[in-house]
Amino acid sequence: MKTIMVTGCNGQLGIAVNKLYGARDDIRLFNTDVSDPGFTKVDSFLDITSVEEVSKLVSTLRPDAIINCAAYTAVDAAEEHLDLNYKINALGPRNLAIAAENVGAKLVHISTDYVFPGESEHPLTEFDPVGPRSVYGRTKLAGEEFVRQFAHRFFILRTAWLYGEGKNFVRTMLGLSEKYEEITVVCDQFGSPTSTTELAKAIAALLPTENYGLFHATCEGSTSWDDFAREIFRIAGKKTRVTSVTTEEYNAAHPAAAPRPHYSILDNYMLRLTSDFCFADWHDALTDYMDQMGYSCSTKE
Ligand SMILES: NC(=O)c1ccc[n+]([C@@H]2O[C@H](COP(=O)([O-])OP(=O)(O)OC[C@H]3O[C@@H](n4cnc5c(N)ncnc54)[C@H](OP(=O)(O)O)[C@@H]3O)[C@@H](O)[C@H]2O)c1
Repeated sequence: MKTIMVTGCNGQLGIAVNKLYGARDDIRLFNTDVSDPGFTKVDSFLDITSVEEVSKLVSTLRPDAIINCAAYTAVDAAEEHLDLNYKINALGPRNLAIAAENVGAKLVHISTDYVFPGESEHPLTEFDPVGPRSVYGRTKLAGEEFVRQFAHRFFILRTAWLYGEGKNFVRTMLGLSEKYEEITVVCDQFGSPTSTTELAKAIAALLPTENYGLFHATCEGSTSWDDFAREIFRIAGKKTRVTSVTTEEYNAAHPAAAPRPHYSILDNYMLRLTSDFCFADWHDALTDYMDQMGYSCSTKE
């Protein structure tokens, strides 16, 4: 039986990883997090920013693999919390990489489309130059670099527009639709909505292999935030109208601290080159997710 240690087990991805591996009797999950809101049972509290805590737990547990689902993900708040962001998003993965290497464990680390400047005109591969514009993006990139520096057996998966159990765009839109008949959503930012269920499947496909390295890992296809919102309302059978505005127009009314990438469509190029794993199309993944929330879909338009 293999032991997999999970950090941030109560976050969106941590919960999905638990759902996926929970059904397997050949894997023992060891769940860690800084707090226990009660979604996933925490086996041990672990603050990944502490090199001592991480080293002590990993050297005692000696897991076969570590899946790092922990992160500081509040993109706007990050602009005012630089040190905390570097601690969680950069030093955390560094501590895990050192500890994983010491016990010969594989390390799965999750990164983001925010490592790119967001001005591309074509889907971005793992070989495209990075250039983060926000504190969150800079600290996540530093995390990637530490993982490459300190671990050999690593998988870094860059994902985007993630939704699962927890606070995310889908739930925010559904919440807003309860209050308003019309909402305003930006139309000039493009990406690939990705379900945590699909991302967990990609992790489970890569982990048993020695296909190490950096992977883009998003659902297939792409959209803009306003069309994403329309699709959510269509599936939910909501009549809420979506008014499209540019980022500039939106920011004039709701200033955001962190700049968003205008274009962050990731091409899962390395997955395509090196594995048989294929992400679901984002519409299908969204339909499954909303089906589980109790919204059954009418046929696609
Ligand atoms: N959400 C997105 O749209 C998105 C997009 C691209 C990439 N990603 C990446 O995908 C990964 C998973 O994201 P997610 O949405 O599942 O994140 P999430 O829901 O915000 O969960 C993060 C988890 O990490 C925990 N955590 C925070 N600080 C910690 C620390 N010092 N030590 C240990 N645990 C700590 C959090 O606990 P508390 O809640 O108690 O703080 C929470 O349980 C992250 O690496 C993120 O950067 C996310």
